[in-house]
Amino acid sequence: MTTQTAIQSQHKATHRYVPTTSTPISPEKVASVLAAEWDLFTKNTKGSELESKRAFDSLPLGVTSSFQHWDPYPISIVSAKGAYMTDVDGRQLLDLSMGFGAMLAGHLNPVVIEEVQASLNQGMLFVTPSPTSTDAAERICQRFGIDQVRFTNSGTESTMYAVRVARSATEKMGILKVEGGYHGSYDPFVVSAKPPLNKAGKAEKPTPYVEPNLVPGDIYVVPYNNIPALEKMFKKNAKKLACFIVEPVLENLAIVLPDAGYLERVRELCDQYNVVLIFDEVKTGLTAGAHGAAMRLGVKPDLITLAKSIGGGLPLAAFGGKKKYMDFVTNGKMAHFGTFNGNPLAMAGVRAIDRICSDEALATAEEFNLQALTRIGDIIDEYQLPAHTVGFGIKGCVTWSTTPVRNYRDYKATDFGVAEAHWLFALNRGIITPPGLDEQWLISLAHGQTEIDLLVEDFRDFAKAIRA
Ligand SMILES: Cc1ncc(COP(=O)(O)O)c(C=O)c1O
Repeated sequence: MTTQTAIQSQHKATHRYVPTTSTPISPEKVASVLAAEWDLFTKNTKGSELESKRAFDSLPLGVTSSFQHWDPYPISIVSAKGAYMTDVDGRQLLDLSMGFGAMLAGHLNPVVIEEVQASLNQGMLFVTPSPTSTDAAERICQRFGIDQVRFTNSGTESTMYAVRVARSATEKMGILKVEGGYHGSYDPFVVSAKPPLNKAGKAEKPTPYVEPNLVPGDIYVVPYNNIPALEKMFKKNAKKLACFIVEPVLENLAIVLPDAGYLERVRELCDQYNVVLIFDEVKTGLTAGAHGAAMRLGVKPDLITLAKSIGGGLPLAAFGGKKKYMDFVTNGKMAHFGTFNGNPLAMAGVRAIDRICSDEALATAEEFNLQALTRIGDIIDEYQLPAHTVGFGIKGCVTWSTTPVRNYRDYKATDFGVAEAHWLFALNRGIITPPGLDEQWLISLAHGQTEIDLLVEDFRDFAKAIRA
């Protein structure tokens, strides 16, 4: 392994390696690799094509969540175990998406199965209190260092309720979010999630971009990693702002790391201006480390939202935080409902994850991730690629830019053509990463040395192909 040193302008608990020299990749080369790879894709995935045609009749776009669709059609999966999935064409694919992080423990982890089976013997849904939900709440509170928690069924519900808690506590209605930040599909969160640049205003002072079918309420947008812009926003609008909702590390624009000191200053400003700080940890959560991103980065929000990684693959999410805010649920000013909230199967998932996700297990996965990042960094150097690596916890990505990406505008300036070619090249060789180019790989607890070698060597083959 080389001794690549991370640039120290980002938070020290994160990884970024930006080479000092590179040479451009010609757009013609990218176009020819892409054309050849799409050709190969359609040849190898006849089953997925047929399945997509069939699904289009009963499901819009042939999928159950619009994220899952891509043109001409996505891969259709029949089963998954450990770190691998099998598609309808009978191909085995190394899964580096792992359910956007929800399959952190690996597909069909035996401990998850054991807990779920034991739970099934006790019943499926009580809609009345149970020791199983109290036990799960205690585990979550202890692990993430929060006073109280409530369970929901999706990240969207959790972010929506967290905002409502903040509104109840402050008696203010405004929501502040980051440009390019995604927090689920509740109307305010769709605002400026991926705004077209010609409608997004100035980089320092973005205009909230509202799709015509949204009713977002009083919504404000700031650039990430920009304290002066945040201070200006607070000076002007803090009297209207209930909360600032932000991912501590942005994980819907590949991976965008907080600058050193950014989150600490955000915390101070939120205190100074009486704005509730919500960390959306739906994506970071346990993928950031055994106690989440807030604990890892050393900045305590007022409320956090959790989902994906906390439930062992079952549909489970949560919001929680300081008692003084969760008291607004207790006093009924922010009633929180849900038929399936805290259902015993999801609670079994929490128990399983608590057994599986020890500090040691996650540290081992993180070492594998760092190994992959370092080796890929070496290949970037060797082939002088205009790219760099970014990592946080057990997630990593290659960003096709020669300079660090610190916000949405930087992300929009990255090379999406090479990113697509890299994604498709890997897919055609049996490695599946999430469909958007905004995502990252996840080294789950089911991945080991073999899988790291596959990831790294595939990247080397791609580097050779793009430089051929
Ligand atoms: C940061 C973040 N917050 C919230 C959500 C919404 O979660 P869900 O899809 O479970 O509603 C997502 C989904 O990807 C997310 O990435």
